[in-house]
Amino acid sequence: MTGGSYGTKIADLYIVHNLAAVNGSSRHTYHAMPPVGWMNDPNGFNEAFGKYHLFYQFYPYGASWDSMHWGHYTTEDFVKWKLEPTALAPDGPDDSDGCFSGSSVVKDGKMYLVYTSVLSDRQTQSLAVSEDGIHFEKLGVVIPSDRLPDFCLKTDFRDPKVFRRGGYYYLLAGAMSEENEGMILLYRSDDLMKWKFVNVLRRDDRTTRGIYECPDLIEFGDRDVLLASPQGYATDDWRFENVQSSIYMVGKLNAEKGIFEQESEDEIDGGFDFYAPQTLKTRDGRTVMIAWMQMWQRSFPTAKHGWTGSMILPRELSLKEGKLYQSPVREIERYRWNPIRFNNVKIGSRNELTKVNGTKIELLFTLDLGDAKKVGIKFYQRGEHDARLYYDREQDRVIFDRSRMGVEIVHDPEEKDASVRSVKVDVSDNRLSVRMFLDVSSCEVFLNGGERTMTGNVYSEGNGISFFAEGGSAKIVTLEKYDIVV
Ligand code: FRU
Repeated sequence: MTGGSYGTKIADLYIVHNLAAVNGSSRHTYHAMPPVGWMNDPNGFNEAFGKYHLFYQFYPYGASWDSMHWGHYTTEDFVKWKLEPTALAPDGPDDSDGCFSGSSVVKDGKMYLVYTSVLSDRQTQSLAVSEDGIHFEKLGVVIPSDRLPDFCLKTDFRDPKVFRRGGYYYLLAGAMSEENEGMILLYRSDDLMKWKFVNVLRRDDRTTRGIYECPDLIEFGDRDVLLASPQGYATDDWRFENVQSSIYMVGKLNAEKGIFEQESEDEIDGGFDFYAPQTLKTRDGRTVMIAWMQMWQRSFPTAKHGWTGSMILPRELSLKEGKLYQSPVREIERYRWNPIRFNNVKIGSRNELTKVNGTKIELLFTLDLGDAKKVGIKFYQRGEHDARLYYDREQDRVIFDRSRMGVEIVHDPEEKDASVRSVKVDVSDNRLSVRMFLDVSSCEVFLNGGERTMTGNVYSEGNGISFFAEGGSAKIVTLEKYDIVV
């Protein structure tokens, strides 16, 4: 096997020579992010050759989206990421306009990447193979556009996710009908090389601007959960407020017939910056999800520092009574330092707790909401700048407000705003439990044991933290804070 293609070697040389030019401001410390340049979707997230692999949409030569490569990290614990050589570059005859998103699969001791090859306005699905999980050789197109049903556009057919069921390989891909409806297609193969179209799993017109990007499938006992990222999904009250959303659909897949009997659907994350999730199964049977911690059609404040985009802290998923629950990978707890604890603190109009501050931390607290109208926490706080997470009794929602962070995010006019998001959670016992992770410029929130999550980047320099209660009293029942040091 060779040591990578011409395009991947040039990319790796460029990375080595430009690492020092990336300005460290705003860079995370325990999240996967591009060494230089641009990162979007996670790709090929899987276990192979004794470690976990994360590939990602990568443009090394600038901090904005351009011709797509597959960057590559490996990890043992989803917290520390080892940079590997670039896996794919858009240097083949079928993919010279980009190696778009896809997945990976291990077969007969080899690792296969299944990705979308883009050539002018045509999208097809291609394979690359590796014997060591590091260097990949392209095998060419395996699903050409003539294998698309005739009611589909050849311009939007992408993001293959391969999974195994009933002795076959199956492949999900996003597509678009001639009437511009977003679709998820299902294909079947017994050797990864020859693929047969099975059926359309989902087709609807709520994707007002495109397709169902990045489909994925998880099995939870007798239930299947489809994940996908529809573009321009119509806003439904407080849900789907971003210009592109990520949703999960619970149901049952009949893979042989290509029918997904859907029982329910919901948004995966109620924050600002969460897209294109992908999952793997760990050796010990957990389903772990990773996603891009950014959003399309906005300005990217870190681009001026030489990088854009990062991944969420991977999350363990479970399904309880038809609802998806998320919690951070348990491995993060190995990196906790300097525990600080408080119990029973009455929140006044401003309340700072000794040593409860920082920008690379985990915070866990339970609030007794008392009779306050608004109660919550300010973080990344300095002077008048901060971000806030609070319960608003009148709206009966938890609000994530980054409007005072001091940096304006320019957003698509169709997006209502890019500074306030909210979710509904169960506070029938008048308590709210919150687990938060801050990492220099990000915030990931798990509410009530992962019933809802909210993810967002916050570009504020402050490291202050304080609690507040307005229009009544409230208290912190328990609080723990840890520094996260990797
Ligand atoms: C989703 C997406 C995919 C595509 C990739 C291109 O964020 O638009 O549909 O394959 O990004 O980088």
